[in-house]
Amino acid sequence: MSLIQPLILKAEHGYASFLRFSLVNPASLATCLAELPKVYQIDDSVVGFGQPLLAQLKADIPGVKAASSIQGINRISPANQDDLWLRVSGSDPGVVMLRVQQWLATLLPTFSLNEQLEGFCHRKGRDLTGYEDGTENPDETEAPEVVAMTGDKGIAGSTMLAVQKWQHQLDHFNSLSNQQQDDIIGRRKSDNVEFPESPAYAHVRRTAQESFSPEAFMLRRSLPWIKGQDCGLNFVCFASSLYPFEVQLKRMLGLEDGIEDGLFQFSRPLTTGYYWCPAIDGENLDLSRLS
Ligand code: HEM
Repeated sequence: MSLIQPLILKAEHGYASFLRFSLVNPASLATCLAELPKVYQIDDSVVGFGQPLLAQLKADIPGVKAASSIQGINRISPANQDDLWLRVSGSDPGVVMLRVQQWLATLLPTFSLNEQLEGFCHRKGRDLTGYEDGTENPDETEAPEVVAMTGDKGIAGSTMLAVQKWQHQLDHFNSLSNQQQDDIIGRRKSDNVEFPESPAYAHVRRTAQESFSPEAFMLRRSLPWIKGQDCGLNFVCFASSLYPFEVQLKRMLGLEDGIEDGLFQFSRPLTTGYYWCPAIDGENLDLSRLS
C-alpha cells in the first residue's frame, strides 16, 4: 500500500482551501500536534511542515530547507516561508469550508493563520488564461516514484512540496493576439498541442522536464484563485526533492541563459514556500520523525 498522502496523487479537485500558518504559541505545540490525528482525514486533507517548524521539532528531514527569494535577470521571486501548510479539498465547497473550521479549531491559537486562499477547478483543469494545466504531469503509475522520498520509516513515502502564489494581469493577457498568447505558453489554446516553432521564452520550453540534467520531473496540482479583482494561479508541485522546482524556476527567471519565461509578461509570483509532507501510517499522518 502506498505511504504517500493519498490526495497528493488525486488529480481532480473541484474546490480547495489552501491555508498557511505561523507557529505563535510553542508551549502548546505538543498538545496541538497530538490532536492532528483527530482532525486529519486522508480523503480531504494534505499537510506540509515548513523548515522553521521542523527545526523547532528537531526533526531531521533530508533535503528540507526554507524557501529563499531568488533574483532573476529582471525580477525577483519572493519567498515567504511559513511553518505549516494545509490543503483541504473536495467536490462540495460547503463541505470543504466546514472541514476547514474543524482544522482551525485544532490549530488556533497554537498557530496563527497567515492566509486562507480558495482555489477552484476552472473548465476541467484550465488556468484562468484558458490553457490546460497539468498535461505533462506524470501518469498514475509514474507519479508515486516522482513524488515519494525513499528512506526509513517516517521518510519513505513523504514528499517535498513547493507552493508559489502567482497573480495574473488577465486583462493584459486577454488583450494579446491568439498567436502572442500561444507563444507565451508554447502550446495552442485551441487544441493544447505543443508547437515546435514556439519562441525560446515559451513556458513549456523553459520548463521541459527532460531538458534538465538530471531530469526535473514534478507532479503539479495547481488551482486558479480569484479574490475581488485579483486573480491568478496557486502553483503547487510535489516531488521527491526541491531540485525540480528550483532548477525550473531559475531557468524561468532567466538565470540559465538570460531568457525570461513568457509567463512574466502577464503574471508574477507573490509568495513562495517549501514544505515537507509526511507519509501516512495507515489512515493517519506518520509523525514519527517529529519529537
Ligand atoms: C502563472 C503560473 C503558471 C502557469 C499559468 C502555468 C501554466 C502551464 C501550462 C498551461 C502548461 C502546459 C501544459 C502542461 O503540461 O501542464 C505548463 C507546463 C509546465 N509548467 Fe507551468 N505554469 C505556471 C508556473 C509554473 C512554475 C512556477 C513552474 C516550475 C517552477 C512550472 C512548471 C511547469 C512544468 C514542469 C510544465 C510541463 C513542462 C513539460 O515537461 O512539458 N510552471 N504550465
